[in-house]
Amino acid sequence: MSTPKKYTITAALPYTNGPIHIGHLAGVYVPADIYARYLRLTGNDVAYICGSDEHGVAIPMRAKKEGVSPQEIIDKYHGIIKKSFEDFGISFDNYSRTSNKIHHETASNFFKNLYNSGEFVEEVSEQLYDAEADQFLADRFVVGTCPKCGNEESYGDQCEKCGTSHNATDLINPKSAITGNVPVLKQTKHWFLPLDKHEAFLREWILEGHKNDWKSNVLGQVKSWIDDGLRPRAVTRDLDWGIPVPVEGADGKVLYVWFDAPIGYISSTKEWAAKEGKNWEDYWKDENTKLVHFIGKDNIVFHCIIFPSMLKAHGDYILPENVPANEFLNLEGNKLSTSKNWAVWLHEYLEEFPGQQDVLRYTLTANAPENKDNDFTWKDFQAKNNNELVAIFGNFINRVVVLTNKYYNGIVPEASDLSEIDEEVLEQLQQYPEIIAKSIERYRFREASQELMNLARLGNKYLADEEPWKVIKQDEERVKTIMNVALQIATGLAVLSEPFIPFTSNKLKSILNIDASLSWTDVTTKDTLITANHQIGKAELLFTKIEDKTIDVQLEKLEATKKANEAANKTVEPQKDTIEFDDFTKMDIRIGTILEAEKVAKTKKLLKLKVDVGIDIRTIVSGIAESFNPEDIVGQQVTVLCNLAPRKIRGVESQGMILMTDTPDGKLAFVEPQQTIQNGGQVC
Ligand code: MF3
Ligand code: ZN
Repeated sequence: MSTPKKYTITAALPYTNGPIHIGHLAGVYVPADIYARYLRLTGNDVAYICGSDEHGVAIPMRAKKEGVSPQEIIDKYHGIIKKSFEDFGISFDNYSRTSNKIHHETASNFFKNLYNSGEFVEEVSEQLYDAEADQFLADRFVVGTCPKCGNEESYGDQCEKCGTSHNATDLINPKSAITGNVPVLKQTKHWFLPLDKHEAFLREWILEGHKNDWKSNVLGQVKSWIDDGLRPRAVTRDLDWGIPVPVEGADGKVLYVWFDAPIGYISSTKEWAAKEGKNWEDYWKDENTKLVHFIGKDNIVFHCIIFPSMLKAHGDYILPENVPANEFLNLEGNKLSTSKNWAVWLHEYLEEFPGQQDVLRYTLTANAPENKDNDFTWKDFQAKNNNELVAIFGNFINRVVVLTNKYYNGIVPEASDLSEIDEEVLEQLQQYPEIIAKSIERYRFREASQELMNLARLGNKYLADEEPWKVIKQDEERVKTIMNVALQIATGLAVLSEPFIPFTSNKLKSILNIDASLSWTDVTTKDTLITANHQIGKAELLFTKIEDKTIDVQLEKLEATKKANEAANKTVEPQKDTIEFDDFTKMDIRIGTILEAEKVAKTKKLLKLKVDVGIDIRTIVSGIAESFNPEDIVGQQVTVLCNLAPRKIRGVESQGMILMTDTPDGKLAFVEPQQTIQNGGQVC
């Protein structure tokens, strides 16, 4: 572990156009939180910074969809998102929002600074324009084919499929997302950041300078962009939602959201420093401060190429020490999607698993998409809870606390002669801070969480091998030592688990009745973490087993979402060929009532029905057995095509046809009259 330093840790500012889900937590906020908490515990000076990203086209688009103002949208989701972060123990030092005055000022000044020092290229060029909507089409307002990968649904500024960032005019077959029209070209003035000018510096700084310490997924993307050749990027837009461009001749123009949002890290730091009586510049302009950006992979270009070019062009700022971007988390095999509601929303999780934030924090860490996309499954969530948190961590703590209370009324016993095994176990305990720290410092949070679990395993194994519950009958002195050693491990776990599962760590500290002053390094340097004669509290369960039926509820919920999406996507069949009125009147359609129903033997789909159609009672074979139980439909009124030529189906003559329609969940439904109709009533 290194000497204390200043750290500015940023987590991507979430867009306030929807709540946040497990993908956000796994990819960005939990790893950043583990890192920040660990650094604080090791005595560093940390500013963990975030806030809401409230500009950009996604906001007015969402507002339009919900029929409210953009302001209402950002207020609503800023509130929901902020609360989710608090609920999950994400320990931001400051959570700001880009609609705040301090941010508008900071971003405007940043722009003016680059403008005044001639860092922009001002250019009138032809941009995509929707004449009907009377609006220029940038970013999410335009959709077309990605010139790089052929994805037909690429946005104007970025393709979500391959991650490439481009100019809207690069799109093949662009279409307005507002009207669906093919855009025309119209002249407009914009300010461009000449990324090409910064290419050599970026190559040198990242591809050379950080080739050994940045993640390979990040280096790979950066290299591919630089090798493709960097071009000037417009940092202004013709839109009415955003920060006005603060120079003359820019009426009706705003800053590009990806210009203003990363500056949000700086404004959020300023806001925090003012509250705390600190100097924000220490966190952004001091060469010794380490700046680390936590992001998802779709943000790599903005944090590794565009924002550093802005910082470099400005000249006063430090550059990131690292940008440990994660890949994506999927849910039960499919891509997480806000619009398709394919997600586990944090606020909903807490309603269904109250008080179990740490279970999600732990499972998302143990299964984090660090080097490749990864899948979240409810079965795996259940297994990690039941087999690791309950069976290993929780079980060890429970045994230690229960036995200490049982044998010693909760008073920590004195250790006397330490056996070789005791010595070895205590020595291993002392190594864990270093082992876990190494993984965290290399941004390997999965590995770190597994090492934490290994410490609990060590404790469990120690008790299982030493069997104090048996030894107590012959050698009471020895049991005191065993329990003392076990209590040291339990205390070590209370300290070292804090970054990962902070709620559990707190609960455990309160059970052990220890204050929060023990530091990470104390676990290595102190001979005893919990002293003899100290009184601990009573046992409380840290984790509870999750039953199959709880998991089934979640799986059913996802299944329902899938069906609803399928139904919403179902295309309406095109109209059939035109018929004459006479063709229609040839059909004899009547209301009837089902009198009897039974399955046709050896078939899955067929029911044999007796139906009273007014004219007579007839037999009809109908393919509805997968949608109805025979006993449930006796008495049901149905619509029958009566004069359909009889035909034999599986040996039974069918004398008509029941009219049916499809339901959204893939079953069949009767077409029935709104009220009871006399059998034989005609449909015309
Ligand atoms: N709102 C962006 C997203 O969700 C992230 C912005 S990060 C920042 O993808 F650097 F711009 F702040
Ligand atoms: Zn693409």
